[in-house]
Amino acid sequence: MTGSVMNISWSECLRLILLLLQLTTVSTQERFEVLGPVDPVVAVAGEDVVLPCYLKPNISAVDLSVEWFRAQTDDPLVHLYRDHEDRNENQLPSYRGRTSLFLEQLKNGNTSLKVKNVRVSDNGEYKCLVQSENFFEDSSIQVSIKAVGTQPVISNEGYKEGGISLVCESKGWYPQPQVVWMDSEGHSLPAGHTEMHRDSMDHYIVRRRVIVQETENNRFTCRVLQQQLNEMKETITYIPGEMFHRAHPWKVTFAVIFSLAAVCIIGCTVLIHRFVKLRKKRGILASYCSHLWFFFMLKKKLKNIVEKQYYVKMTLYH
Ligand SMILES: *[C@@H]1O[C@H](CO)[C@@H](O)[C@H](O)[C@H]1NC(C)=O
Ligand SMILES: *[C@@H]1O[C@H](CO)[C@@H](O)[C@H](O)[C@H]1NC(C)=O
Repeated sequence: MTGSVMNISWSECLRLILLLLQLTTVSTQERFEVLGPVDPVVAVAGEDVVLPCYLKPNISAVDLSVEWFRAQTDDPLVHLYRDHEDRNENQLPSYRGRTSLFLEQLKNGNTSLKVKNVRVSDNGEYKCLVQSENFFEDSSIQVSIKAVGTQPVISNEGYKEGGISLVCESKGWYPQPQVVWMDSEGHSLPAGHTEMHRDSMDHYIVRRRVIVQETENNRFTCRVLQQQLNEMKETITYIPGEMFHRAHPWKVTFAVIFSLAAVCIIGCTVLIHRFVKLRKKRGILASYCSHLWFFFMLKKKLKNIVEKQYYVKMTLYH
């Protein structure tokens, strides 16, 4: 009895040990860590980027499932590899055709993702999830997209609020840059607030206005800088001195009064001249008219006399 119990225990024990041994080998084989970069991945809009992700130990991921998705998003699939192929039917539309795994690297446990032609909207946190039949693990990757904007364009709005108004504009930045106005010596000038707008690609358009006064050389600089990007673009403008002179209000007033006075004097002279001429003409006309009247009346009288004589003659004849 005891022997048989002992026998069963022994054989069971052996099977249990074998099973345990098998289990542990399986689990050690199946267990892995998923690792990504510690620092955010920085990419410039328009370029391609690799989001690193790999297994430790470097077991093959060929037979595993690799899923890349956006963290904190409802329907977040960026790329899916399962059953030895890409399954991107439910991929976020904005990533269509832009993502790929390094298929030849999967056997080395390299599950990095390549994203082509990155956009500002790709900015954010990603997860790389690797799954076997009975184990899964993921890793987070922070992606930071940058965009360097255009050369600033300065436009001159002419005289405004006691000086010359200049506006500086630059497009295509991400994240938002700073805009600084400076004189030729690099001293920053007091300027208005920086207007920010987003374009359809989520890039920033920045605009800042300054009212400048005349300086020694009338050169002014608009600098647009993005410190995280370590990027800076600047444009220098020159304003002709006459613009400032024209800008002074008392000079404008003087010029206006002067021209009005000149116009008035010329106008008045012409008017007086015309008036005098007209009067002279009228005088001539009046005398001419009275002469005409006189002749007319004379003619009428003569005619009367002639008619009367004719009448007398006629009656006499009858
Ligand atoms: C896996 O890593 C070991 C060292 O940890 C290295 O010798 C080996 O080449 C790597 N295997 C592959 C397939 O990358
Ligand atoms: C994974 O593969 C890509 C492409 O070949 C390579 O750039 C990257 O360095 C690899 N990563 C690791 C951890 O081996």
